[in-house]
Amino acid sequence: MRKHIKMKILAINASYRGNKGHTRFLIDKLFKGAAAAGAECQVVTLAQLKINRCLACGQCQTGEGYLECVHEDRDDVAEVFSQMAEADILVYATPVYVFGISGLLKTFLERFYSRGGSGNLQLSKSGLMFHDVDHAICSKPFVALVCCDNLEDETPRNALGYFRTFSRFLDAPQVGALVRNGGRLSGYGHDPEREKQVPKILDVYRAYELAGRELAAEGRIRRSTERRANQEIVPVPLFRVLKRLKPFKRIMVERAREMI
Ligand SMILES: Cc1cc2nc3c(=O)[nH]c(=O)nc-3n(C[C@H](O)[C@H](O)[C@H](O)COP(=O)(O)O)c2cc1C
Repeated sequence: MRKHIKMKILAINASYRGNKGHTRFLIDKLFKGAAAAGAECQVVTLAQLKINRCLACGQCQTGEGYLECVHEDRDDVAEVFSQMAEADILVYATPVYVFGISGLLKTFLERFYSRGGSGNLQLSKSGLMFHDVDHAICSKPFVALVCCDNLEDETPRNALGYFRTFSRFLDAPQVGALVRNGGRLSGYGHDPEREKQVPKILDVYRAYELAGRELAAEGRIRRSTERRANQEIVPVPLFRVLKRLKPFKRIMVERAREMI
């Protein structure tokens, strides 16, 4: 009989709030489902680690130190890369900070640079010209988990675009996109009173668990589950359409001022 192999899922939590943040709360919801379906789940909390920034010194691209980072033994990045290499699926989990992925995630990802020869030009599977990368780390199937407070579709757009480009250049299949807006509105998972005002959030959490189960069993999140997880939580019919209209938004802003 074929031995059942456990799916290994590694989440990279790139919130500065680390284990206390909304990002971690959402990872835990996802992992509750994934673990129940038999996956081995682990979280790397970047805020707890030493992540030096790439110096762009170029030493990893030439001579004796080729593909070796000058920071190699000075911080925790190499250890995280090893964990990534062992995982089947990665979850890049980031809050929106000033309209994009967190600086912490970007700083971490810039360290990919030392793992590929930038002069070794190739074509990615998507047909983009790019240099050699360490596929064992950079090309893992991944889920983008993005959370923010604002309700505008514009808010996570930059982060989602980033992950789309990341996927295409690095040959990393994107197997899910979880986008949670209205974090403040729902109390970041820690305020039952807030949740009563936006009860749809409870269905969102159930969808995260289902998404985790799908990741463990099928290696991807189904579109229908993604839509459920990414639904609007404001209890107003047709909110997704209405929120594009300025007069409606004026009223919304007034109401939000009263609530917050
Ligand atoms: C420095 C900083 C910048 C932020 N920028 C935005 C932003 O541009 N848009 C937004 O909707 N929320 C923004 N937020 C709010 C966070 O995205 C939101 O609170 C998120 O849930 C934080 O997740 P965390 O608790 O895991 O850190 C920002 C928060 C911080 C600390």
